[in-house]
Amino acid sequence: MIATLILQATLIYLPTMIANAMPVFVGIGTPIDGGRVFIDGRRVLGDGKTWEGFILGLSFGYCVGCIEAFILHSFPYILIGFLGSLGALLGDIVGSFIKRRFGYRRGYPLIPLDQTDFTIGATIMLLVGGMDIEFTVFLIGLIMLFVLHLISNRIAFMLGLKSVPW
Ligand code: CTP
Ligand code: MG
Repeated sequence: MIATLILQATLIYLPTMIANAMPVFVGIGTPIDGGRVFIDGRRVLGDGKTWEGFILGLSFGYCVGCIEAFILHSFPYILIGFLGSLGALLGDIVGSFIKRRFGYRRGYPLIPLDQTDFTIGATIMLLVGGMDIEFTVFLIGLIMLFVLHLISNRIAFMLGLKSVPW
């Protein structure tokens, strides 16, 4: 029973995870906020959210969904790949928007926001898109991606892809 739920969460949130992990390979890109500042005088999103990262994350996440659909012979995974990735990237953007409003500079670690914003964004997008996600599956996905986010960021730091280990 629990194994089935874990498998379900893994399959549903795999594109979400990939979409969130890929942008780190961009390095320097074109900021989504165009360098603009908000009414509080701080950057709207900051240099950590780029169009290149967005496109890369969306493309890879979508591809992962397509591969899952192909392997599992299940057409909905194509939609899950697209919606999950889009939601993950938008959730991450909302997370950065919130961080900037609180005055946290780009890259400042804000647990648990950094580890959950993309999973929550993905889930909302998947639900809006008509997908049926059990609450337990969402919770398992949230915990799994929370842990994976901490581990993958440390690895990205050790590989020199990130300047901070979070
Ligand atoms: N990234 C990107 N475009 C995105 C998301 C992420 O280019 N849409 C890249 C940036 O190089 C970013 C890195 O991936 O620095 C890691 O992403 P994240 O941890 O979300 O960004 P932070 O630099 O920590 O910025 P913030 O404080 O706004 O979360
Ligand atoms: Mg970060």
